[in-house]
Amino acid sequence: MATTLKGRDVIAIGGLTKDEIELVLAQAARFEERCQEARELDLLPGRVLATLFYEPSTRTRLSFETAMHRLGGDVISVAEGARSSSVAKGETLADATRVVSSYADVIVQRHPAVGSAQEAASGATVPVINGGDGVGEHPTQALLDLYTIERERGTLNGLRIGLVGDLKHGRTVHSLSRALSHWKPVLTFVSPPALAMPAEISEELRKQEVTVNETDDLAAAMRQCDVLYVTRIQKERFADPAEYDRLKGSYILDRALVERTNPELTIMHPLPRVNEIAADVDSLAGAAYFRQAANGVWTRMAILALVLGEQL
Ligand code: CP
Repeated sequence: MATTLKGRDVIAIGGLTKDEIELVLAQAARFEERCQEARELDLLPGRVLATLFYEPSTRTRLSFETAMHRLGGDVISVAEGARSSSVAKGETLADATRVVSSYADVIVQRHPAVGSAQEAASGATVPVINGGDGVGEHPTQALLDLYTIERERGTLNGLRIGLVGDLKHGRTVHSLSRALSHWKPVLTFVSPPALAMPAEISEELRKQEVTVNETDDLAAAMRQCDVLYVTRIQKERFADPAEYDRLKGSYILDRALVERTNPELTIMHPLPRVNEIAADVDSLAGAAYFRQAANGVWTRMAILALVLGEQL
């Protein structure tokens, strides 16, 4: 197994080997266990995390900030970067992170443009972690998703996993499907044709000998899967509001549908949800999405500690 990620950027899930992903997952399990005993560990005293968010976020920003607090470090934050930071005055992301590198030991950035995390990393002299770059990638979400799948199903090997919703714009499913490729899953992509997984990602997966099925039939896919990963149709990614209105209700999961097709299903969602999972699903044993969000803290504790050269 890999032993360190010291000094590394985390820009795309493909930048981590299977060994390195397993190191993050093993560390996350240790942090989860230790945090049952102690609310705060003294692993990163004096270290500072900067969170630079140019797009809205609840889970990613707050779980990273909670993670840093629990590691004994400090946090500085730009929560509405597009409006409140000097990037709004025309400063480049590279210049911004170069300057923030003299205030902080590690940076998490979210930005609406694909490639923005790489641009930020090009200016930074400390590790940059991609908290979501537009429709590109969300690698730390993929890591917490893997952690959750392993926790819920007992293994990552050879699972049948359905990904449903806005697969075209969904950075979480782009990163997760790539991450899962190491464990040879059967992936079923469920979407309307207009929101299909980008062909280059499906091709990349097939080249890695992942079985990829594509369908628009949610109920049929549910019967064939161990895990269903539901995503929101993302209004903010549509140039044409009429196209969003046409597609927004494409798939709605409710309790009756789960009980009719596959009561054993593990149901995940990166959140936020809008209407794609009805509230009556929440009390099913397989509804894992709130546990999934909670797992973000342990996973991000592991990532922060590892890129700063520490571990349990
Ligand atoms: N899953 C996720 O990225 O949530 P936020 O947009 O709230 O960070």
